[in-house]
Amino acid sequence: MKAIVIYSTLTGNTQKIAEAIAEVLPEGSPCVAVNDVPHDLDSYDLVFAGYWVDKGGPDKKSRELLGRLHNRHVALFATLGAYPDSEHALKSLDKGAEALPEGVCEAGRFICQGKVSPKLVEAMAKRFPKEHPHGMNPERIKRLETAAKHPDGQDCANAQSFAREVLKRLGHDCSA
Ligand SMILES: Cc1cc2nc3c(=O)[nH]c(=O)nc-3n(C[C@H](O)[C@H](O)[C@H](O)COP(=O)(O)O)c2cc1C
Repeated sequence: MKAIVIYSTLTGNTQKIAEAIAEVLPEGSPCVAVNDVPHDLDSYDLVFAGYWVDKGGPDKKSRELLGRLHNRHVALFATLGAYPDSEHALKSLDKGAEALPEGVCEAGRFICQGKVSPKLVEAMAKRFPKEHPHGMNPERIKRLETAAKHPDGQDCANAQSFAREVLKRLGHDCSA
């Protein structure tokens, strides 16, 4: 099983998860940023494609990449500011799956929280009044404070379990 991890990141959260996943893939599996996709991408049986959530879906570069992944298996992973068990998180993964070309087999999905850029938080606080759905209400402040602690070691371990599970399901013995 020839596998590769490809990630997009602005502030490092998704890269951290990508690197954790790469650690449990067959030795020598590359882990590359979306700008450094190899020319022989089609030769990989399994792609772990990771994105940061931008306005409820994959960021632009990832959306473009996902749309041209014709590999046999594609597993999705993502990081976002919202809670990973929220409707928003589920939809953000659905959007990633929807970006894949028709007929590509989705091999699994993983999502966890990631700290939100302080610049974005500041801009939102300035732009929206507290009562606004995007305003800095107590619930949002709490969520951002929680997000600020992620991804943590547990998220990396969970991402590794997810990757092992994907390999196992596809019939690759990851202890080999
Ligand atoms: C422009 C922008 C838009 C974002 N949109 C969302 C969003 O719609 N939903 C969400 O939960 N988080 C959103 N976030 C938060 C990021 O998805 C989150 O912080 C992610 O972990 C960043 O990953 P990175 O460090 O790999 O860039 C947004 C962040 C930025 C900068």
